[in-house]
Order: sequence, then structure tokens, then C-alpha cells
Amino acid sequence: MIRIRKDVRSITPYRPGRPIAEVAREYGFDMSAIVKLASNESPLPPVRQAMAAMAEELGAINRYPDNDCHDLRLALASHLGIEPDQTWVGGGSSELLRVIASALGGEGTTAVYAWPSFVVYRLATVVAGATPREVPLTTDHVHDLDAMRAAIDDTTTVVYVCNPNNPTGSHVSSEEIARFVDGVPEDVLVVVDEAYGEYVTAEDYHTAVSLALSRSNVIVTRTFSKVYGLAALRVGYAIAQPETITELRKAQAPFSVTSVGQVGALASLSAVDEIGRRVGENADERSRMEAAFADRGLEYVPSQANFVYLRLGASTAATTEAFIRHGVILRPFGEGWVRVSIGTHQENDRFLAALDAERHRLASN
Ligand SMILES: Cc1ncc(COP(=O)(O)O)c(C=O)c1O
Repeated sequence: MIRIRKDVRSITPYRPGRPIAEVAREYGFDMSAIVKLASNESPLPPVRQAMAAMAEELGAINRYPDNDCHDLRLALASHLGIEPDQTWVGGGSSELLRVIASALGGEGTTAVYAWPSFVVYRLATVVAGATPREVPLTTDHVHDLDAMRAAIDDTTTVVYVCNPNNPTGSHVSSEEIARFVDGVPEDVLVVVDEAYGEYVTAEDYHTAVSLALSRSNVIVTRTFSKVYGLAALRVGYAIAQPETITELRKAQAPFSVTSVGQVGALASLSAVDEIGRRVGENADERSRMEAAFADRGLEYVPSQANFVYLRLGASTAATTEAFIRHGVILRPFGEGWVRVSIGTHQENDRFLAALDAERHRLASN
């Protein structure tokens, strides 16, 4: 028997939202009849400029990609009003999270994060040989930053703050983040995961980029997988002080960002108006869904992201099955909660119709 580490063996494998093709095969649906609201993807294709740039790049993929992501980092720096050496690009922001965990982990160290939150924090921590310290969200489903601060001790090397939080869509204000960072020891890295940051409309929320540039122990991670509609391309980025990036990059696999990904991400950055329009559409549909849940007397967490956390009260298996029969793929969580991504207007209507057909039966399960 090969000697895989015990802590790795104990991992529950990552369970992605079920792919459309798999559900179509299993249930005999036409793929076009299925609505996937399970992985917080954009319901819209990449912007036109990105598709054109990626198509053109295909003829050059016999060459390895630019390991420094030079052009994309230049474009990111200009987009954000920062310097290129304050940016770092990865094969999805998940890769950056794993690199961070492995560079700061190891036996005897701990990583602090909220729970429920993005499951990659847990996976990356365990794989890095570190011990997770999971701090429950408050009863309002928001990060309990005081409790997270209290969970940090001298074994702690990294803290993750998911803002807005996946799966609840709740956020903490910029002021709260700044206060939290003030209370964290300077040798503990605070990762502010802003995978859904573009979708936020709350006025007390601002990106933590300026905090990351002014503090040596703060890094912000972001992604092209959500609002930019490039989930399958795997491009994410981080913002931090250059010295932090230089050290963390040593733990990153070479060539992890494809050349097609680099040009697709770069071209997407220029579509400022279109991305703004998509953010507006998401906010409108999010409000419509929340109002529909309120009208039906359902418990939900007000969201700042492209998904809503909703309580249906039934078991994971019963909920998944009930919605799949209507061709709708959701993401169930424990204790009767589901996370539903915001789709197009028509997709959301499909979800609401399935909800009306199933909710009474599910609640009495
Ligand atoms: C909170 C959060 N962070 C990071 C990611 C990872 O995104 P990617 O690896 O596609 O950049 C996700 C994806 O769902 C997420 O929910």
C-alpha cells in the first residue's frame, strides 16, 4: 500500500456542482433543457473581445505560456491603478489559495477561516499539513471577526476572509476588515478572497486592495471565473506587496496559467461597460429572487454576490433530486440549506417554478 498521509486520506473530496452533461445523461434530458445554478458561474458567455483573442491564440499553443504573465499583469495593474509587481496570476484563484496554504502550512501550524465558507480553504490547509481552525459564522451568517481574531495564536500562519462569503453571500464592511487586520499579528497572512467582489452593491464595501498594498501581511485574491465568464479557462489573480508575491511564487508550479487564459483575461478587462451591465443585471435578478423568497415566507441570507443561500428545510439528497427532476441543478448544503446561483431571467424563472412545485413537499420531508 502506498503511504499517502493520513490527513490526506481523511479528506472528503471536493464535490463540484453536477455538470450539465452528466445530469442530461443520467436523467435523459436534452442538455439545453437543463439549468445549472450550482457553481456560481456567469450565465453569460465570455465577452466578444475575449473570444476573439482566445481563438487567435489557439494557433500558438505549441509554445509554453509566458510564465510571468507579463502582458496580463501590466493590464491588471493599469485596470487597478497599481504596479505590475503588485500583481500575481494563477491557474484560477484556487491555485493561488493552494500555493499560499502550502507556503505557509506545515506540521504544527494552523489556518483560521470561517465556516461555512469556501471549501478550498479546508482542503488546501489539510494538504499543506496544517490544522484547520474553523470559526462558525454568527447566527446572522456573517464572519465573526472577533471570534476569528481570538482563534489566532502563535501556531497560526494564515487567516482567510471570504468577502462576500461563499456560500452565504454575506459581507463584512471595509472598516471591519481594516479593524480586523489591525488586531492580527504582523507575521500572520490575512487572505481576503474577493472572488465575488465585483458583484457587491453595498455601500460599506470596498475592495481590500489598498489594505494589501499598505500592509505586508495582507493579500487579496480575485478571479476571472465569475463576472468575466471565464470559469473553464482557470485564471485568477492576487494583489499584495511585491516581496510577498516574490516569496509565494516560489511555491507555484511553472506555466500554470495557459496562454489562452492570459489573452482571454486580458481582453476581458477592456469590456468595462459590458461587465458593468452584467453586474447590474445580476443585482436586479438577485433582488427579484430575494423578493420571491420573502413573498413565499422562506428564510434566506441577503446576498451581495451572484448566489443566494436559502433554507428549504429538506435533506441534501431530497432537495437535489427534487430540483433535478425539473432540470434544475442546485447546490445543497447541510441542515436544509441550498445555494442557488443567479442565472438569466429565464433561468431564474425556471428555478422559481420548480421551487413552487416542490417547496411544500420538501418542507414536510
Ligand atoms: C470564494 C471563492 N474563492 C475562490 C474561488 C475559486 O475560483 P477560481 O479558482 O475559479 O478562480 C471560488 C469558486 O467558486 C470561490 O467561491
